[in-house]
Amino acid sequence: MDSHSFLNLSILALLLIVFVPYQAFASSRGHFLPQDGDDSGGAPSLGMCSAAVNVHGYKCQEFEVTTDDGYILSVQRIPEGRAGGGGPNRPPVLLQHGVLVDGMTWLLNPPEQSLAMILADNGFDVWISNIRGTRFSRGHVSLDPANPEYWNWTWDDLVSHDLPSVIELVFRQTRQKLHYVGHSMGTLIALASFSEGKQIDKVKSAVLLSPIAYLSHMTTALGVVTSRAFVGEITTIFGLAEFNPKGEPVANFLKTLCTTIGIDCYDLLSAFTGRNCCLNSSTVELFLKNEPQSTATKNLVHMSQTVRDGVLSKYDYGNANFNLEHYGETRPPVYDLSKIPRDLPLFLSYGGQDALSDVKDVSSLLDSLKLHDVDKLHVQYIKDFAHADFIMGVTAKDIVYNQIVAFFRNLH
Ligand SMILES: *[C@@H]1O[C@H](CO)[C@@H](O)[C@H](O)[C@H]1NC(C)=O
Ligand SMILES: *[C@@H]1O[C@H](CO)[C@@H](O)[C@H](O)[C@H]1NC(C)=O
Repeated sequence: MDSHSFLNLSILALLLIVFVPYQAFASSRGHFLPQDGDDSGGAPSLGMCSAAVNVHGYKCQEFEVTTDDGYILSVQRIPEGRAGGGGPNRPPVLLQHGVLVDGMTWLLNPPEQSLAMILADNGFDVWISNIRGTRFSRGHVSLDPANPEYWNWTWDDLVSHDLPSVIELVFRQTRQKLHYVGHSMGTLIALASFSEGKQIDKVKSAVLLSPIAYLSHMTTALGVVTSRAFVGEITTIFGLAEFNPKGEPVANFLKTLCTTIGIDCYDLLSAFTGRNCCLNSSTVELFLKNEPQSTATKNLVHMSQTVRDGVLSKYDYGNANFNLEHYGETRPPVYDLSKIPRDLPLFLSYGGQDALSDVKDVSSLLDSLKLHDVDKLHVQYIKDFAHADFIMGVTAKDIVYNQIVAFFRNLH
């Protein structure tokens, strides 16, 4: 395989972040590419509350918050359990989804298996975030998503704009510090933020599911070495604009890629994401009606830089002068995870089959947290779990969610 194919493979590696739950899809349907021309994906046109929460007999409120750079984000609140009885001062919990999905991923299982509703039923005031560019968060004060400028952002911007806006909303509404739960990229932006000392004053604790900070071993799983040319490559294909996994260009790109380099995308997929042990096929069907969601191509480029460089840095503009212009330094600034306040209660749960949040990369993360107060760092390793099991696994309640509830309760 020539170096060009290696580059393409590394792009594919990234794309697989998109297709994690398609692993189950692959087993039931025999392929994983999104259906051509199905941009709606059968997604509900109603708001998320009506589509996925009220139907189960829970109250739900829709909120909107505008970031300081003009993005209008939708946020949902499940203020109390199905049985009601929500008094004042119920501890708020914010759920932050990963890349290429939206807040709906928390709501796809039946209520008794869904983290959002389990938390509500256990006395918590549950808030669900949806980052910029996802289905219910495509508004902007002046930019249209059809305008490439709308997509000029990476997860750095989620750290500096989306996360603070949503956390501020919850804080203002509840007048309490919140518990944070992130999955995948939702862990990355929290860790990056905490490492800069941001949001710590409004966050009581954080749960990190399938934590992603270092991604080096995602590449070794692929046998791929990413290169400096990578950034140029992916942006040449898609431009710095919307990366819509349900759109035709991405689907065609994947198909061509698989044919050109002569790999079996089905096997590659299994090889990468790891085998999710415990997904319900009805939930997977529902997932496919709702996800994946768009993100910025620039955001994926930034993630690929993390894969390539093995350190957690801000977006690399690819040349010393541009970096100097943006950061006042020739290299992008590093997020130093050892600066996360040592007394911040953390609960970290990771899976032995998770090829995206690879066990070795989680070790690197734990190593950077080695000076964390011992009694403030809870680590759970689940041998059979892969990436999607943490949000949609039928056994996640017993194995993970009950521990999360206990972890939060112990802090009150
Ligand atoms: C994207 O935003 C940066 C600032 O973060 C700006 O320097 C750059 O010109 C923008 N790029 C485009 C294509 O608008
Ligand atoms: C799978 O999901 C369906 C639909 O929500 C539900 O009726 C069924 O009980 C679930 N199966 C398991 C094993 O949880």
